[in-house]
Order: sequence, then C-alpha cells, then structure tokens
Amino acid sequence: MSDHPDWLVDEPHHDVDHGVIKSGKEAQVNLVERVADGARDGADDRSCLIARKRYLPRHVTQKGQLEALGVQRASAFRHDVQYREGRQFRKSRDRRAIERMSTYGKRLLQDRWTETEHEVMLELWRRGVSVPYPIGYADDVLDLEYVGSWEMAAPQLSAARLSRHELDDAYDQLIVGLRGIVAAGIAHGDLSAYNLLWWEGRLWFIDFPQSIDIAANMQGLDYLHRDVLNICGWFEHRGLTVDAEETFADLLSFM
Ligand SMILES: Nc1ncnc2c1ncn2[C@@H]1O[C@H](COP(=O)(O)OP(=O)(O)O)[C@@H](O)[C@H]1O
Ligand SMILES: [Mg+2]
Repeated sequence: MSDHPDWLVDEPHHDVDHGVIKSGKEAQVNLVERVADGARDGADDRSCLIARKRYLPRHVTQKGQLEALGVQRASAFRHDVQYREGRQFRKSRDRRAIERMSTYGKRLLQDRWTETEHEVMLELWRRGVSVPYPIGYADDVLDLEYVGSWEMAAPQLSAARLSRHELDDAYDQLIVGLRGIVAAGIAHGDLSAYNLLWWEGRLWFIDFPQSIDIAANMQGLDYLHRDVLNICGWFEHRGLTVDAEETFADLLSFM
C-alpha cells in the first residue's frame, strides 16, 4: 500500500531543473519540475514541483577546494558525534570509524545525513505535522515537496511580513507543530525563524538533519529547551507575549 500524496508524480517521469531557490552554508536547494513521461504525447499532463536539497561537501581533501567551487567552508563534522549519540551503528567498525572521523566514517555519516532527515520528515508527515512531504533521498540529495509558487518560494518566517493577526496564528501553528514533533519523540535541534517557512497562512517546519531522538539522547531535552527558548524569543521580539518556560513545560506533557 502506498501512502504518498496524490499530487506526487510517481509514474515514469523526467525532471526539469529550474534553478537555485536558495544557497546556504550547508546545502543548496533547487526548484525541480517532475513531469510524467506521458505528457510528451499529450496523454498526460501530470507534473509536480520539488525542492531538491543538495548537501555541500563537508570535508576538503585539498586546501581551497571548496573555495574554488565558490562555497564557504562547511560546518565542522565533529558535532555529528554528539547528535548521533543515541544512534546504534550495527557494526562496531562503523562506530569506531566515526569516532576516529576517518574518511570512511565521514562518508558513512554523510550517507546517513539525508537518510535521517528523510526518515524523520516522513514520520512527522505521517503524524500530520506541517512538514514538506519527503519524496526521496540519495547520498547527498533530499527531494521534498516544494512550498511556494512558480513566482516565488515560500519565504522563511524571518523574512515573511506578517500582520499582527498572522503572527498570532503562526505562533499557534508553531505550538501545534511542536506538540506533534515532541509526540514523535523528536527534538528539531536547530529551530529558528530561518527553518520555518510561511506560505499562504500556513507555517511549515523544515531542515531536520540534526534532529535527535529525545529518549535515546541524553541531551535531547536540552536541545528541545534551546529550540523553544530560541523560537519563543523571536516571537517575543516581535511583540507577542509568550512564556517560553511554560511552553517548554507544556511540550513535555506531549512526550
Ligand atoms: N520544501 C521547500 N520548499 C521551498 N523552499 C525550501 C524548501 N526547503 C528548503 N527551502 C529553502 O531553502 C532554504 C535552505 O533549506 P534548509 O533545509 O533550511 O537547509 P540549510 O539551512 O541547511 O541550507 C530554506 O530556508 C528555504 O528558503
Ligand atoms: Mg536551514
């Protein structure tokens, strides 16, 4: 039984790249149109839009290699060990490789990076949390439901110009979303107004590669607490009266 959304083109298709939506320090996101092959002979005009997130290289073998590609140096790999604390690696050789941060170990984490993000987003999507549907992944690529229109991608919450009423609404949606995420046993780990999108009155949660399993990771609750303080602070700064500690306590009851 397939549980993917109706709009997704999953029959034979070809992808058309429409260029970069956003390029950050960790990833570049492109707008891709997926067209059903039948469309060529007019039998079918099914198509859908995809946000294709491609991770930038995380380690350099040659000095200046990333810079030559026009890329800022990626964030340090060391943090991954902390995030993956609760994760079981089947083979101890794999775990040791990661601990030593050998090239093999880094490769292993790179592969798991998109896999983890896909897995987490699919679980949240199934639970009805407002995340783009994760369509699929490969080594360093994650395909997501695109949020936006042909004219423009959904702005990050930080850049969206919300009315007072919309701000209240966005906060309510934030809490509903967070309850769902916590109920799934997950802490986002990098929640900010940059990793929330606002489109036609709906708030979307994105960017989950560093999310962690609250139960399996001793620092899970710390990450959740930090996320809540961070995003509540953003709303407070914009004039909303919110009690971050109370919000955090409320969320714990959804675990
Ligand atoms: N599904 C999506 N639909 C539209 N835009 C997206 C989508 N996913 C990401 N983006 C855009 O790409 C940016 C970067 O994506 P994100 O997942 O936050 O990666 P990172 O911050 O690691 O570069 C987002 O802030 C947003 O502007
Ligand atoms: Mg981001």
